[in-house]
Amino acid sequence: MGELPSDIKRVLIAPEEIQKRVQELADQISKDYRGKRLYMVGILKGAFIFMADLTRALSIPHVVDFMALSSYGKTTESGAVRILMDLREPIEDQHVLIVEDIVDTGHTLSYLHRVLKGRSPASLRTCALVRKIRAQTDVPLDYLGFDIPDVWVVGYGLDFADRFRTLPYVAELKPEAYTR
Ligand code: PRP
Repeated sequence: MGELPSDIKRVLIAPEEIQKRVQELADQISKDYRGKRLYMVGILKGAFIFMADLTRALSIPHVVDFMALSSYGKTTESGAVRILMDLREPIEDQHVLIVEDIVDTGHTLSYLHRVLKGRSPASLRTCALVRKIRAQTDVPLDYLGFDIPDVWVVGYGLDFADRFRTLPYVAELKPEAYTR
C-alpha cells in the first residue's frame, strides 16, 4: 500500500476488503429487490464513492439520486440536521434505499428516515458502509459493511476538513491531526 500520509495512524479496512464487502452488499440488495426498481439515495458528500461502487455492482434496475445534509449535533445531544439539497423527484410509491458512508452518532440517519418515510415510499431501507460502535439510532440498518471503533476515520469518501476523501482505504486519523 506504500507509505501512509503523515496524519494517518493506521489502516482499518483495506481496499480489497472494502471491494469484497461492497460486492457482497450489492449481491444481497440485488437479490432482495429482484423484479423491482430501486431508488438509491446517496447522502453527500461522504457517500459519493461508496454510492459509485455500490450502484455499479448492482444487477437490478435502479435510479441514482442524492441529498445533502448538514448536522450540528456531533458533539451535542440535540443532533439537529438540515437539508441543504433535496431529491430531484418525489419518492411516493418508490422502493427507496438510503446510502450512507458512516453512521456515527446516528442522528443523520434517524432524521432522514423520518423525513423520507413521510413522503410515502413503497418501501424504505438503509445501507451504510461503516457504523461506529457508539451509534444510537431507532432506525434499523438493513445493510452494513463494517462495524468500527469510535475513532476519527477518513478515506473512501470520509473526510477530515475535506481532506483524505479519495484514499482507497478507511483509516484512523492521528489525534494530533484534529487537536492541533
Ligand atoms: C457524515 C456522514 C453522515 C453523517 C453521519 O457527514 O456522511 O452523513 O456524518 O453522522 P451522524 O451519524 O453523527 O449523524 P458530514 O456531516 O461529516 O458531512 P460530509 O459527508 O459532507 O463530509
